[in-house]
Amino acid sequence: MTVARSGRFAGERAPAFVALNSSLALDWRLWPEDIEGSVAHARALLGAGILSADEFEAVEDGLAAVGREIESGAFVPADADEDVHMAVERRLTELIGDAGARLHTGRSRNDQVVTDVRLHLRRVAERQDAALASLQEVLLARAVDHVETVLPAYTHLQRAQVTSLAQHLLAYFWMLDRDRSRLEAARRACLELPLGAGAAVGLDFELDREAEAVDLGFECVAENSLDAVANRDFVVDYLAAAAQLGVHVSRLGAELVLWATAEFGFVRLPDAYAGGSSIMPQKKNPDAAELMRAAAPRLTADLGGLLGVLHGLPLAYNTDLREDKRYLFDAVDCLDQILPVVRGMLEEVTFDEARMAAACDPFLAATDVADYLVEKGVPFREAHHLTGGLVRRCLEKGEGLAEVPLEDLRALSPAFDEGYYGLHEPVAQLARKRSRGGSAPVRVREQFGRARAALSARPCC
Ligand code: ARG
Repeated sequence: MTVARSGRFAGERAPAFVALNSSLALDWRLWPEDIEGSVAHARALLGAGILSADEFEAVEDGLAAVGREIESGAFVPADADEDVHMAVERRLTELIGDAGARLHTGRSRNDQVVTDVRLHLRRVAERQDAALASLQEVLLARAVDHVETVLPAYTHLQRAQVTSLAQHLLAYFWMLDRDRSRLEAARRACLELPLGAGAAVGLDFELDREAEAVDLGFECVAENSLDAVANRDFVVDYLAAAAQLGVHVSRLGAELVLWATAEFGFVRLPDAYAGGSSIMPQKKNPDAAELMRAAAPRLTADLGGLLGVLHGLPLAYNTDLREDKRYLFDAVDCLDQILPVVRGMLEEVTFDEARMAAACDPFLAATDVADYLVEKGVPFREAHHLTGGLVRRCLEKGEGLAEVPLEDLRALSPAFDEGYYGLHEPVAQLARKRSRGGSAPVRVREQFGRARAALSARPCC
């Protein structure tokens, strides 16, 4: 049995319009939530005396049967199934008849779809939060082994000062910590129940929306029916969180691409996450890291796409809103695919400590020299100028900063003494960066404590 077109229409829909209008490909994944929401709605209809106990039972069992058909692959969508909601209801009515035809009382697809999306997105946010927590665990575990592994910190992609690999990895830990805050805010934004708003203005029936909210695990009921069906802010919140996370993933990907070059050589990428060339047999390409980098524009476009759909839309429901799922699910899929790759990459990448140490050229100590002069009473600006001159002299003579004889140093400033020669080992420079949050091992170990506390303060759902 197929549901005939509404009595409002004399003619059939044009095939081209049917094809355009079908959103099954977009929204099919919402079927579990559609069934869940429908059971809760049926329970509210039971409470309001619109469904009898027998009818409620038939609806509940029938929906479970539809769910089993979908799961087993036996479900056959019909041409008239415009979207997942129509498909589930059509099949239910085929299976149980009259009680199925009563289910849509006091409900519109407008409040139904946004209820389904909220239920679905809540779970996505929980799942992806757990994935982010596991990335943080890996970053911490790798960082613990590299508190004294020195490498240059870069500014303007020029070698700047010595830092440690642990400090570098922990920078990503804190980015992910903020991402998790944003994801959690997006999850919480899902917890408002739109069901019961009807098409736009509310219902003629007294359905117990509070009970429905509890039934479906929502925290509250949407206050305004027009807002309830038009509101996609919670999707924007998720996409904004996803876009920011994508930017972080892309920065990590870009660094891995750079670090894997022969020129840098700081890492060897795991074979499991590298590609080859169809023509150049020697190539090992950082494909996975490049795709990490490419996640940012995709996720940013998803956010921009949805904001584009929403802007200027008059209240309340408009079919444009159907497109929310195009952007939402693209972002969900992008992150579901990329996060395990990021994890595998971080777990398996090999760090070349010797290459990192070799990149710590003698001039990274220049700021330490200036700071040393400050400790001897020289004003910083003068110390900066003096040290700059020293660097220029060394570059001209082709010697390192540590090789300048004391008498030459003292000719520049009487503030220099033997202590100058203790500034040049990279580990010594590292140890000096002991301000709170700095790269010194003692501070990085403190940071581990804070990172672990942050992880346990935010247990994943
Ligand atoms: N499939 C639609 C969506 O995803 C729900 C149906 C909206 N209602 C309507 N009258 N077309 O938004």
